[in-house]
Amino acid sequence: MSDIAIKDLIKVYKMGKIEVIALRGLDATFVGGKVTWIRGPSGCGKSTLLNLVGGLDRPTAGSVEVDGVNLSQLSDGDLVAYRRDKVGFVFQFFNLVPVLTAEENVDLPMRLAGTPAKERAKRTKELLEIVGLSKRAAQRPDELSGGEQQRVAIAVALSNDPGILLADEPTGELDSENGKLVMALLKAASRDQGKTVLLVTHDPNANHIADATIEMADGRIVPPSGEAT
Ligand SMILES: Nc1ncnc2c1ncn2[C@@H]1O[C@H](COP(=O)(O)OP(=O)(O)OP(=O)(O)O)[C@@H](O)[C@H]1O
Ligand SMILES: [Mg+2]
Repeated sequence: MSDIAIKDLIKVYKMGKIEVIALRGLDATFVGGKVTWIRGPSGCGKSTLLNLVGGLDRPTAGSVEVDGVNLSQLSDGDLVAYRRDKVGFVFQFFNLVPVLTAEENVDLPMRLAGTPAKERAKRTKELLEIVGLSKRAAQRPDELSGGEQQRVAIAVALSNDPGILLADEPTGELDSENGKLVMALLKAASRDQGKTVLLVTHDPNANHIADATIEMADGRIVPPSGEAT
């Protein structure tokens, strides 16, 4: 299980002479093995926060510590390894490799991590079973429904058995039935596999799976408004 401690996190995007302050001193702790629902209005910095926790980008100041390691102190190479081994990403637009089948997509991160073929095959089978897609293993993304693609994407995110699962609007493109299925899989990942799940969504169904909820506004955490956004 992975614990995440965030201290005074600041992110400024510079575009020529214009500066956008996306995070302005954010503090938070995410407890290992729980689902935390992160909500807040468009532009408040939710995706920026997930990108920094996922090591996709580096903070301007402040720190993200995962299991006691400050990500800012990792070299570029170590940050790549962190992203590959410790974090699974689930995005709004399923992010699968279009020319690969479902099982090849699930296999790919393990291949990049140097996992032996036999182990990869076993794990791919298990993961496709968990997401209920064993029968779709040989199909490419364009031969799958949106809901099925997102379930494959969850299997991909779990393939290297990361401690952290980051989901940014994972149900944004799905109908409510498929949205509920995806939420249930995220919940199962935390409950059955101890993943630390950060879930950014406007979908009120998050309420049913969240162990904790934090609300953001203008680059910080604010007290809950009690109103879904
Ligand atoms: N790469 C970038 N370059 C410049 N500005 C950016 C960049 N990414 C985000 N921003 C700005 O930073 C602020 C926070 O953006 P962010 O994407 O984190 O918001 P969000 O809460 O995820 O919004 P949404 O709910 O619409 O997805 C916004 O003002 C946005 O315009
Ligand atoms: Mg966003």
